[in-house]
Amino acid sequence: MIHAKTYYIVTFGCQMNERDSETLAGMLEEMGYVLTEDKTKADVVLLNTCSVRENADKRFFGVLGQLKHVHMERPDMTVGVCGCMMQQDHVTTTLQKKYPWVDLVFGTHNIHRFPQMLQEVRQRNVNLVDVWDEGGAIVEHLPAKRIDPYKAYVNIMYGCNNFCTYCIVPYTRGRERSRQPEEILQEVRLLAQSGTKEVTLLGQNVNSYGKSSHGVGSYHSDESRGGMDFSGLIREIDAIPGIERIRFMTSHPKDISADLIQAYGECAHLCKHIHLPVQSGSDRILAKMNRHYSRKQYLDIVAQLRDVCPDIAVTTDIIVGFPGETEEDFQDTMDLVRRVRYDSAFTFLYSPRKGTPAEHYADQIPSEIQHDRFNRLIGEIHSIQEEKSAAYQGKILSVLVEGPSRTNPEIFTGRTDSSKIVDFPGTSAMTGKILPVRITRARTFSLYGRVEGEDELQAQRSPAE
Ligand code: 5AD
Ligand code: SF4
Repeated sequence: MIHAKTYYIVTFGCQMNERDSETLAGMLEEMGYVLTEDKTKADVVLLNTCSVRENADKRFFGVLGQLKHVHMERPDMTVGVCGCMMQQDHVTTTLQKKYPWVDLVFGTHNIHRFPQMLQEVRQRNVNLVDVWDEGGAIVEHLPAKRIDPYKAYVNIMYGCNNFCTYCIVPYTRGRERSRQPEEILQEVRLLAQSGTKEVTLLGQNVNSYGKSSHGVGSYHSDESRGGMDFSGLIREIDAIPGIERIRFMTSHPKDISADLIQAYGECAHLCKHIHLPVQSGSDRILAKMNRHYSRKQYLDIVAQLRDVCPDIAVTTDIIVGFPGETEEDFQDTMDLVRRVRYDSAFTFLYSPRKGTPAEHYADQIPSEIQHDRFNRLIGEIHSIQEEKSAAYQGKILSVLVEGPSRTNPEIFTGRTDSSKIVDFPGTSAMTGKILPVRITRARTFSLYGRVEGEDELQAQRSPAE
């Protein structure tokens, strides 16, 4: 019996990487490979890397170390590494010196060439390193193996022009390039036809969609040419039949438009949630981070959003211990957190990234001070989260059911419009539906409830069912 060749992909980091891994999986399946659950048995193992923070780097080298022995025992296995880390010269140099057994190294700009590269490596039994410095024209119509039938990530733009001083992304993902609106709309229409209910529009800074003027094949939002900006795109997607929820990631406060805020009051399918990374509550630190907004401007945006959509959930990213951050700067962050009352926040210890301006800033903050501030910050965030969660007790929320929970097959899990996790007793027939769930118990990070009308539904079911 001939066994199909198998693959396994390890994805580090953000949604952007998860989406890239779906493309890589789609390509592998078109080449006849099938997914395996065990990476040590796979014929092709890919590690799709992230370089945003130091711990992702460390985890990558950890997994690579584990694979070394497997690769030695199974030399026919192909190990490929790709993604943001490969766009950094010091990483590819380390790989070539210390991990020469890695078969294939490629970056973020030439994913579309993966099938040819893999074929070359496997058929000619050579090692290949191919990393491009810049992204050229956006390559459309690549295959994708979508992870979830009801929720889909849709790239709308690639790259970033903002150069926040701590961030590696502009160096690893290149300049901003927007996809043509018609390509995006067609992708969303096809997704809707195949059962997708929720789309998350992805870009490093979705608010500047259509404005990118760099790169071959970029889309220019020029009024005279009938251009479309981000809120225009949302309005178009809002009208696509079958799409019940629209989300987006990530939104830079400096570029948020009045029309996007307005869209929260007008677009029925735009989820009542915004992820709006603030990074710091101190004007001094925001300026050093090159963020181009003040705490006042940020608070004004949140107030405007809440005017238009009073129960909008606001989440954020915060970096603790940026170089030069004083206790006073940190208190400004704590104060901002208390004012906004975030529904949740991702908090990060600042880690210097090679090649970014902040790497060389004076006054790097000692690790004990960073950790102390970090702990105080998450304490504050969690107590606000707890209070906010408690307010949901007794309310009915609409939940997109994702499937059984990992730990108990009788408990199902899903997300509300505002992205809160809700668990409830359920059945597989509920998966993929948007159902009303009455919240009976609030926990800090998730809610627990009962599907409304489920008792009546059970009673109506015939015994044969
Ligand atoms: N150190 C810590 N956190 C960082 N982030 C980006 N770069 C760094 C860094 N060097 C965080 C930011 C960003 C999120 C994706 O990661 O908060 O919004
Ligand atoms: Fe990094 Fe700033 Fe661009 Fe976000 S906006 S990807 S934090 S440089």
